[in-house]
Amino acid sequence: MQQQTEVVRERRFRRVEPMPTHVVPDRANDSLIVRAMQAGVMPVLRFIPTPHWAVRRFLEWDNRIENERDAWDRLRDVNEMGRYRTIQGFVETFAPGGSVLDVGCAQGILQEGLRYGEYTGVDLFPETLATARGQGQPGTRYVVGSAETYVPDRAHDAIVFNETLYYPRHPVQEAQRFARHLTPDGVIIVSLFNRAWWPRRLMRRLNAALGAPVAETRVFSGQGAGWTIRVYRPAAVSARPRG
Ligand SMILES: C[S@@+](CC[C@H](N)C(=O)[O-])C[C@H]1O[C@@H](n2cnc3c(N)ncnc32)[C@H](O)[C@@H]1O
Repeated sequence: MQQQTEVVRERRFRRVEPMPTHVVPDRANDSLIVRAMQAGVMPVLRFIPTPHWAVRRFLEWDNRIENERDAWDRLRDVNEMGRYRTIQGFVETFAPGGSVLDVGCAQGILQEGLRYGEYTGVDLFPETLATARGQGQPGTRYVVGSAETYVPDRAHDAIVFNETLYYPRHPVQEAQRFARHLTPDGVIIVSLFNRAWWPRRLMRRLNAALGAPVAETRVFSGQGAGWTIRVYRPAAVSARPRG
């Protein structure tokens, strides 16, 4: 019996290498977001009610710079690690050995060190995907696509939006659209920056659309950044008796 369990485990999980991280040095020519954080404007942004549509244009433009400069290599900074580890823990807890879709995956940092059955990383920028270290690993694929148009070709046990729901024009509707491609018990995992007004509002809107989260963790870095990570199980909402 013991032997049988171990065989199953081996089949479901691949061997994984530890996620490589390092301290990313400060760079003067980083994106405006990074500069804003370094200049300490984030505490002010916490209270300014800025609409998503206004910030989105700026973020879209800034995102292009980030992709061109270092393909988001700065996210390998050890101060980001708590967020990745939390999300990896949620994936492994709620979708053990399952099929994972990582929307806006950039370099696929989440995939490194994650235990899964199948992993699909989707991102808008092919040059960034080309830097993904997990390319070619069994059960792993990277696909160029947009969070606004990509249609999953299979049902997933976990769909992750790790710092990416800022970019679609209609983030809540996109999250709902992706939710239709979950397995019956599948989960949506969302991480959003919680030091600004509008992502906090976006989280509240997600709660209204996807139901109360089944898990939540807040992570704070020593550099003044903070993220809220929530796990939604939309099936739990649709299964609720109506009326
Ligand atoms: C802040 S990074 C997060 C990267 C990744 N989730 C992680 O934490 O390692 C945002 C990523 O979303 C991607 N992105 C932006 N808009 C997108 C869209 N409409 N569809 C798919 N990916 C998008 C960017 O190219 C970038 O790689």
